[in-house]
Amino acid sequence: MATETRKKMSIPITKPALGEEEARAPYESIKSGWVTQGPKVAEFEQAVASYVGAKHGIATTSCTTGLHLALASIGVGRGDEVIVPSFTFIASANAVRYTGADVVFCEIDARTFNVDPSDIEKRITTRTKAIMPIDQIGLGCDIDAVNDIAKRHGVDVVEDAAPAIGESYKGRRVGSNAHQTVFSFHPRKVITTGEGGMITTNDDALADRARTLRAHGMSVSDLERHRSDRVIIEEYNELGFNYRMTDIQASIGLVQLRRLDELLRVRRERAKRYNDELSEIRGIEVPFVPPYAEHTYQSYCLRLTKDCRQGREELMTNLLRRGIATRRGVMASHLERTYTSRYGTVSLPVTEEATRTTMLIPLYAAMTDEEQTYVIDALREELGGR
Ligand SMILES: Cc1ncc(COP(=O)(O)O)c(C=O)c1O
Repeated sequence: MATETRKKMSIPITKPALGEEEARAPYESIKSGWVTQGPKVAEFEQAVASYVGAKHGIATTSCTTGLHLALASIGVGRGDEVIVPSFTFIASANAVRYTGADVVFCEIDARTFNVDPSDIEKRITTRTKAIMPIDQIGLGCDIDAVNDIAKRHGVDVVEDAAPAIGESYKGRRVGSNAHQTVFSFHPRKVITTGEGGMITTNDDALADRARTLRAHGMSVSDLERHRSDRVIIEEYNELGFNYRMTDIQASIGLVQLRRLDELLRVRRERAKRYNDELSEIRGIEVPFVPPYAEHTYQSYCLRLTKDCRQGREELMTNLLRRGIATRRGVMASHLERTYTSRYGTVSLPVTEEATRTTMLIPLYAAMTDEEQTYVIDALREELGGR
């Protein structure tokens, strides 16, 4: 039956996978009175670090603040440059600007939508301090290639893995493959703490520094002072920030993390069904996954080709009329006014083409077979078969 004549459904772009257990999780923290960063944050940090195979986790208020903290911890500042793919949520580039450093936008690979390592190499200068590759939409970038370039040029790598918790690269979990990796726990991600982020690293000194800078540069944490049987007068030796996650958020995160593998399994199953059935529709391409990666499908991104019967906005409007939410793919940060006014015109043709032709369709763990059928049928009716 055509979806237009069928009972209209209302399908959001995503739904956070939150249930009774998450609703009950903050109870203990609230009753104990320890609602800011405390024992639950420490437990969540250890749990995430151990899940991704890293030595340390440093929780933050978001991935954006985590990226800023990661850059500040390695001393990125005024006069430095950080190379960032433009095809990303603007937060990645903004985090560089918070440090006073300049953003140098680079190109992506047309198939993976992730950084094109050969383009990074061209943009390295004597001012380059770090490279920030992105694991866009939940697909790991070619981090070995990025690390290799960074090593040759003596620069650092901060991997923006906002959408990629649970992703594997060559069988190694994202979070242990770069000097620092930063995750997001925003509700659009596979697991959430409302807002929240985390840096993971194997570097002891760096982890210490990030923990200090996260809490105003304070020489001892609140938790240490609380647990101490002697009086400790803290010191503030440099300018820090308040990027502390709360125990309320971390207690939700601990439940979400326990559910992560199952949530990923379901998302991958749903994505496989989309891959199989949408490949039959003319004018759209399903996500490309290179052999080294295992996608988290934080979002499911379609590319509209030249054969597509409808333009992207037209298709998005027609799907919305049928009750199906969509979003444009990923933005090209270098085209936003905050960047054009600072850096003028930068030409990144692969990025610009990708941002014009990509579109996200609904995918979430609680999506029913019926909902997914409705989306697939709607696309088939709008666009026709091959
Ligand atoms: C690639 C990327 N980096 C950074 C962020 C910012 O994450 P947060 O909202 O946790 O600050 C996002 C959020 O969508 C993202 O997709």
